[in-house]
Amino acid sequence: MRELRTGAADGGAARALPSFERIAVVGATGLVGREALTLLAERSVEPERVSALASERSGGGKAAYGGASIPVGVATERALRGVDLALLCADSSVARALTPGLLARGVTVIDNSAAHRMDPSVPLVVPSVNGEALDGRPLLVANPNCSTIILLSALDPLRRAFGVEAVDVATYQAASGAGARGVEELLRQARAFAAGADAAPEAFPEPCLFNVFCHESAVDPDTGLNGEEAKIIAESRRIWLDRALAVSPTCVRTPTLRAHAQAVRVRLMRPATEREVRERIALTPGLLVVDDRGRGRFPTPLRASGRDEVLVGRIRPDPATGCAGDERCKAFQMFVCADQLRVGAALNALRIAERLDALRGGG
Ligand SMILES: NC(=O)c1ccc[n+]([C@@H]2O[C@H](COP(=O)([O-])OP(=O)(O)OC[C@H]3O[C@@H](n4cnc5c(N)ncnc54)[C@H](OP(=O)(O)O)[C@@H]3O)[C@@H](O)[C@H]2O)c1
Repeated sequence: MRELRTGAADGGAARALPSFERIAVVGATGLVGREALTLLAERSVEPERVSALASERSGGGKAAYGGASIPVGVATERALRGVDLALLCADSSVARALTPGLLARGVTVIDNSAAHRMDPSVPLVVPSVNGEALDGRPLLVANPNCSTIILLSALDPLRRAFGVEAVDVATYQAASGAGARGVEELLRQARAFAAGADAAPEAFPEPCLFNVFCHESAVDPDTGLNGEEAKIIAESRRIWLDRALAVSPTCVRTPTLRAHAQAVRVRLMRPATEREVRERIALTPGLLVVDDRGRGRFPTPLRASGRDEVLVGRIRPDPATGCAGDERCKAFQMFVCADQLRVGAALNALRIAERLDALRGGG
């Protein structure tokens, strides 16, 4: 997995997340879990406060933690005793099995899986977008789908300033979006190609190398939407509290290792100039405009990998509107890239934890 870059250490505060004395990362050997450990280590959370847990397959092993390593335990009720914060980085079935027991013991749970995202009693949160949903200090918080987090992070400043009527988005999603198996499959196919051999698909329904294909989640026979597209629609409406929001996604996998890309067309409620749109995006913490037309430098998955910002570029009025120059316009296009393992998963969970910690009097 050395091909996957991780973010650089930032020094961090002396004691991070002080109101959560003991923190468990469940799924600590997976791609999101490893990133969660990296982020905790970057914030100088002492290794003694962190329990790295996974399935029986990994129990007894070690997980990297900063420059050192910590033991990996099996995610049993017993191993989770005494924990104050559980970052769930495993699949939905694991989240459903562990969450009731954790909540009964008063443990704060932040779940990266889809298990609780559409439960109206569970806040679905991107802190920079709807962080106020955490004000009641809920014990259980759902992390949205990675594509939803990236899309709404990029568009939220435009929603706040001009209102958003409709969003068309085509995603180009990295193999790591399917977890460690997805990355292994792409690398296996690359090695086989270099050796002049073939490697049949296992994690994906189609060859990943040199290919682009419909996201592997099931396509609904009635709507024609794949699961990822349905999630983006439902979650965007839920987070923006706008049931009428028109969202038209197409989600595909690409043979990239890490970071998702999105070609976005947004239709605003009130017209804006291109300069205003750029300014709103540029002034928003967590967004970085990468849009050098002269040098042809725009967002790419490689440029976004290991970073905490959502990169936004190719910002332009939709030519179909006929808007010219800096005329006010209702529809804009842009190209967005972000590291879905950090921004779209582990970092969003950590930001939720940090906000909850501050509300608990820790920050
Ligand atoms: N990958 C992404 O881009 C992304 C983005 C947003 C959200 N998510 C969500 O985040 C979650 C993790 O995704 P991932 O990509 O990190 O998957 P992954 O690489 O396949 O890792 C899965 C993790 O779950 C652990 N696990 C499996 N069965 C378990 C059990 N019974 N008890 C405890 N742990 C168990 C695995 O442990 P072993 O190593 O022991 O098997 C591994 O640590 C999923 O719900 C996914 O939908 C992923």
